[in-house]
Amino acid sequence: MKVINKIVWITGASSGIGEAVAKELFSHGATLILSAPDREILEEIRKRYDAVEKGRCHIMPFDITRPDEIRKVVSEIKQLLPRVDILINNAGVSQRSYAVDTLVEVDRRLFEINFFGAVTLTKAILPWMIANGSGHIVVMSSMAGKYGFRMRTAYSAAKHALNGFFESLRAELHGQNIRVTIVCPGRINTDLSLRALTGNGTEHGVMDKNQEHGVPVARCARIIRRSIEHNRKEVFIGKSETFLLVIKRICPPLYYLIVNRASPT
Ligand SMILES: NC(=O)c1ccc[n+]([C@@H]2O[C@H](COP(=O)([O-])OP(=O)(O)OC[C@H]3O[C@@H](n4cnc5c(N)ncnc54)[C@H](OP(=O)(O)O)[C@@H]3O)[C@@H](O)[C@H]2O)c1
Repeated sequence: MKVINKIVWITGASSGIGEAVAKELFSHGATLILSAPDREILEEIRKRYDAVEKGRCHIMPFDITRPDEIRKVVSEIKQLLPRVDILINNAGVSQRSYAVDTLVEVDRRLFEINFFGAVTLTKAILPWMIANGSGHIVVMSSMAGKYGFRMRTAYSAAKHALNGFFESLRAELHGQNIRVTIVCPGRINTDLSLRALTGNGTEHGVMDKNQEHGVPVARCARIIRRSIEHNRKEVFIGKSETFLLVIKRICPPLYYLIVNRASPT
């Protein structure tokens, strides 16, 4: 399914992967609904799209951890647009702290943003997609949703939970013309590490070298667009870290050796 003339709702659209996917889809003819907590940043982004073609970019600021805000925004979108063809659950925050140093409140916060945010929003929009007889739900998991990694305990757990939820949802939606794509990026060059939470909930504030040398975000966005168009069920985006998945399956001792030694930053 080409994205031209499709209405696409993207969360976490104020920076990084979300912003790049928005740009990629807009250039391929999609109409955008962009969400993130900060209205001012979204307004700035919308101005850029309005300069190209007015009316093809809408903004809906909200905090994904607030179910009341999600309900309000969904009802506003229903007034504004005939349908949402593609929902991209992209908003997320990473972690840079060892489990032993991490407050349980921070573990819960990471689950609220990365797991319950996507689940709450998807449940709010799904009945509408079912009634419309079509839809595509994309969820931004991570390589950390496939294997554990140091300094990522709660983040990795939340991403594993996302994989379980959306794999199961895909099976439930079989035959209803609603597709599910799970995206598992490795390291993408965004500000993710800067905003990652430390053990006491403050921001890490450091551009990790692994992050800096990650896949360029525009390339990641192109792969995501093609994955949507080809209805890929699961997609892995990264460099050498993607091989760890294969190594884990064919040579577990080597996998444990690598993962125990790999730099978490
Ligand atoms: N970059 C990578 O290497 C990588 C690897 C694997 C998975 N991912 C996943 O990809 C997704 C995008 O990450 P990114 O790399 O693009 O990071 P990013 O540049 O930090 O973008 C994260 C986005 O999520 C939004 N967000 C954060 N908390 C939110 C909340 N409570 N409510 C609503 N929106 C919220 C942010 O908005 P504000 O900035 O305004 O808070 C921002 O727009 C995340 O789910 C991340 O886990 C990234």
